[in-house]
Amino acid sequence: NPNRSTYTIGFSQCVDNDDWRQAMLHEMYRELAFHPEVQLIYKNAGASSAQQIQDIRDLEEAGIDLLIVSPNEAAPITPVVEEVFQSGIPVIVIDRKTTSEQYTAYIGADNYEIGNIAGKYVANLLPEGGRILEVTGLPGSTPAQARHRGFVEALRARDASLFVIDTLNGQWERSIARQQAQQQRKRYAKADLIFAHNDMMALGTYEVISQDTALAQAKLLGIDALPGINLGIDLVDQGILDATFLYPTGGDKAIEVALAILDGHPFERENIMQTTVVDASNVKISKLQAEKIADQQQDMERQQTAIESQLSIYRSQRTLLYIVAIS
Ligand code: FRU
Repeated sequence: NPNRSTYTIGFSQCVDNDDWRQAMLHEMYRELAFHPEVQLIYKNAGASSAQQIQDIRDLEEAGIDLLIVSPNEAAPITPVVEEVFQSGIPVIVIDRKTTSEQYTAYIGADNYEIGNIAGKYVANLLPEGGRILEVTGLPGSTPAQARHRGFVEALRARDASLFVIDTLNGQWERSIARQQAQQQRKRYAKADLIFAHNDMMALGTYEVISQDTALAQAKLLGIDALPGINLGIDLVDQGILDATFLYPTGGDKAIEVALAILDGHPFERENIMQTTVVDASNVKISKLQAEKIADQQQDMERQQTAIESQLSIYRSQRTLLYIVAIS
């Protein structure tokens, strides 16, 4: 839309030192490349809820037209997000939620469903029953809460032979999950299966248990299923993870919905993305598909750069012609 006025979107990210958040940001910039008139102000709270409150206030101060936010923890971030929403600025919540209904649109997969599918998967994987150790994300963040609930409810549908022996907090981080495993070896030794709320924590756990014969027999599940070396799909391919569940970042969708909101076009309030399991049965095809998509995206990005440089040549030639004409 050539007539669109300039918009400023503020994006408050809870943390960004991991591949999943980088993928989200990359998807946003890729989508934004088609809309050079739109500006993005990006803030990373570095996993601090206090910092994120400050970041959102700063964005409000900067005069943003729309806020995209992925709350580090739901409760502490809720009041400031409600404040922004009530001031008339549209709010898109992505991935992690607040505790409030006061937002314009939500983008993300259904974390209850992901936990539930993981639980059903485990019930199939361990027909004789077994002891499960769960490594959760930050307990104050909604994906950790919903994944846990979905998971234990799926297990409850089975008999008492399958149960969770421990639920430990890995704070979404590989290094914390690694520490947990180092410090609680005895508890891990009892587990037949470890369900980590993301692939990074599964990898951190693996780094400890693979070094110890008493622990190494445990099956290992994660979530995210990112493509790339040592990320979820590849970890399944290497046999490090038994399975992972796709958790799309929704970065491109967030920009799409943001522009629809700003342009006054129709949009969905709840944008729920689909999950799927990646395990030994489909990891090769998943990998091929992911590589193909990455290739196509790189092609598109190259084309876009080429178009931009053509355009800038055209503009400078026009200026030159103009100068020649008037002199
Ligand atoms: C990345 C991450 C993902 C996880 C999501 C949950 O920062 O920890 O691994 O699926 O956040 O919000």
